Amino acid sequence: MLKNMKFKTSAFNIQGLLKTDKKQIVLVGKSNVGKSSFINTLANQKQLAKVGSNPGKTKSINYYNVNDEFYLVDLPGYGYSKMTKKEKENTSNLINYYIENNQNISHIFFLVDIRHKPTENDRIMYEWLLSKSIPFTIIATKADKIGPIKREENIIVIRKTLFAKEDIIPFSSEKKINVDLIEHMINSDS
Ligand code: GTP
Ligand code: MG
Repeated sequence: MLKNMKFKTSAFNIQGLLKTDKKQIVLVGKSNVGKSSFINTLANQKQLAKVGSNPGKTKSINYYNVNDEFYLVDLPGYGYSKMTKKEKENTSNLINYYIENNQNISHIFFLVDIRHKPTENDRIMYEWLLSKSIPFTIIATKADKIGPIKREENIIVIRKTLFAKEDIIPFSSEKKINVDLIEHMINSDS
């Protein structure tokens, strides 16, 4: 578990982005993949970040201060069909601006659902991550929902669909699979 995690602030637009010299570790992925749950699991707190059974729960960039040392940053998900075109545009502009204009992002966790083939938007996200010089890790969430053999099979499919060379780490907030490993990565990267 990450020590002393506290909510800092939310940014709904560019003016609201936090001005800070602290390092930031960022979560990206489609709506409902489990980004906010990932934050809660690492914090070992049930309701630090709002989690929803419907996609589109997180609507702002949310900063969580970890031990006064760095920030974990939760982003709104993409691919949520009920958002209006304007809302989608605003969200993607904000995320783009945040990442493009930030020297302090030390790592990005890219979350995909272990049960499903990555979507076209996931492919675009992956290509975009490759084009940045920021270290990133691909996480396959909700690993508790399938057995260990299927997990390995699905990870192969995910890697093929993304044309990814990187390792993909199965993860579960529900069953705390690989939480220690992620924590270790965060602590050595922040
Ligand atoms: P947005 O804020 O809409 O982008 O979604 P999100 O990526 O933050 O997803 P969130 O953490 O809100 O989780 C979405 C749903 O998936 C919730 O019902 C969670 O309880 C569930 N969920 C998240 N992680 C896991 C997991 O590891 N296992 C299982 N079984 N369910 C999970
Ligand atoms: Mg969320």
